[in-house]
Amino acid sequence: MKELLWVAFMWFHLTATIIWLGGIIFILLVAIPAAKQMLRGEAGGLMGEVTRRFTPMANLSILFLILSGIFLMAINGNISGEVLKGGHGTAMLLKLLLFMLMAGVHFFRGKVLAPRIAKTQSDGEKSRLQKLSLNLVWLNLGSGLVVLLLSAFVATR
Ligand code: HEM
Repeated sequence: MKELLWVAFMWFHLTATIIWLGGIIFILLVAIPAAKQMLRGEAGGLMGEVTRRFTPMANLSILFLILSGIFLMAINGNISGEVLKGGHGTAMLLKLLLFMLMAGVHFFRGKVLAPRIAKTQSDGEKSRLQKLSLNLVWLNLGSGLVVLLLSAFVATR
């Protein structure tokens, strides 16, 4: 039974990982360059629609990563402080801190930056905020890749 639960929650965990990180990679390296190439100044409209459709999927992935992560810890009997001991423990702690940064950036962009960009009249201010928002997505991509590396290291425990 324990093994079945582990497989089920690891499936949720890995599926949520590929949806969130895969979506970020697709948007940054495929959708934005293609939209700029084909639509020039109109690319913003298409990317707004892409973001509107991807955001609920990212929100759900974040929720599933937290829930499945907690269950994986519990199933592994690592819900106590033990999980944070030693080299693997430090890696797990770093992973959780980076995850919190990523989730914080995601909700800051969606709940604070996006409304501010929509409300701003001045073109200069709008493009400054859009550049900040894009750089934060790159930060989340980099953090996500480090989280994957840390997860692989934790798995060698
Ligand atoms: C961006 C966020 C995250 C990513 C990309 C991620 C990725 C992964 C991956 C790929 C594995 C499988 C490693 C393996 O066993 O081969 C894993 C395992 C695990 N993750 Fe995450 N994870 C994330 C967030 C979290 C969070 C928030 C938690 C805790 C609340 C968590 C807890 C765990 C646990 C307990 C395992 C099993 C570790 C073990 O092998 O004992 N993860 N994660």
